[in-house]
Amino acid sequence: MGKSLQPGHYGILFYTKEAKGAKIYELRHPHKRDRKQGYLWKDYGGKKDGLHPFGPLISDVWTDIHRIKHNSKRDPHPCQLPLHLMDRLILMTTDKNDIVLDPFSGTGTTAISAKRLGRNYIGFELDKKYSDISQEKLEQVVPNFKIGESWVSFYLRDIVTIRNNDWETLQQYFNIPNPVRSIDYQKTSLKKGVAIPKEIEYHTEKNNIEFEQTMVKKIPLFTEKILDFSEKNKVAAYAATTNHIRLNAYKGYE
Ligand SMILES: C[S@@+](CC[C@H](N)C(=O)[O-])C[C@H]1O[C@@H](n2cnc3c(N)ncnc32)[C@H](O)[C@@H]1O
Repeated sequence: MGKSLQPGHYGILFYTKEAKGAKIYELRHPHKRDRKQGYLWKDYGGKKDGLHPFGPLISDVWTDIHRIKHNSKRDPHPCQLPLHLMDRLILMTTDKNDIVLDPFSGTGTTAISAKRLGRNYIGFELDKKYSDISQEKLEQVVPNFKIGESWVSFYLRDIVTIRNNDWETLQQYFNIPNPVRSIDYQKTSLKKGVAIPKEIEYHTEKNNIEFEQTMVKKIPLFTEKILDFSEKNKVAAYAATTNHIRLNAYKGYE
């Protein structure tokens, strides 16, 4: 060990423009279970009848989302975030068709999550290589992270985040253990025939694209052009800023 403790958490700071009235939705995640036996991880004592069939409300400590451990699941970027982490933040703070901006977008995790959840997105990235990877991946993404009319986050073919106020309409798509206390050993699962969207597998080998040949449109950043939200098609901009840093930007609308 060095001079400090091994970091075991990732802090997320939450700021709003207004002190009151900012969008923030309550979320739920599935009940945590023992991986071998499948029993509920927590002992709710005699209170199992009162459990929510999907899972508990999400608190400000998230222990069910881990950093990306396998190289096969990551792009050549040192600090790429898990997509389902961004899904959770986007579900918590935005609605369908809202615009999600990531000014340090790396390989596009935020934009991909926004697009698959039916949101619009804008990304800025200093490194053209990362911006190219983002746009290549974004081409393959469709806004299909939903069950019925509710947007949800999937990970490894399971739902990992829902909005609390969507449960009323979502529950028709689930087999809910009856009586509820049998949730202790029986999972609430999606009914047969409910379509689960395929997660895009994006391998690093594929990222070895010929960056110099990527078609880019040179336009100045921070002008009406790039922030013109009425423009319906995707714009890939390879722009020059006043301080001579070349900044890559992209945005997407459905
Ligand atoms: C922490 S990484 C973001 C990773 C991203 N969340 C992901 O999952 O891929 C920060 C990114 O910001 C970019 N960056 C740094 N300074 C920047 C600037 N002034 N403008 C735009 N991008 C910048 C870096 O190139 C780096 O890719």
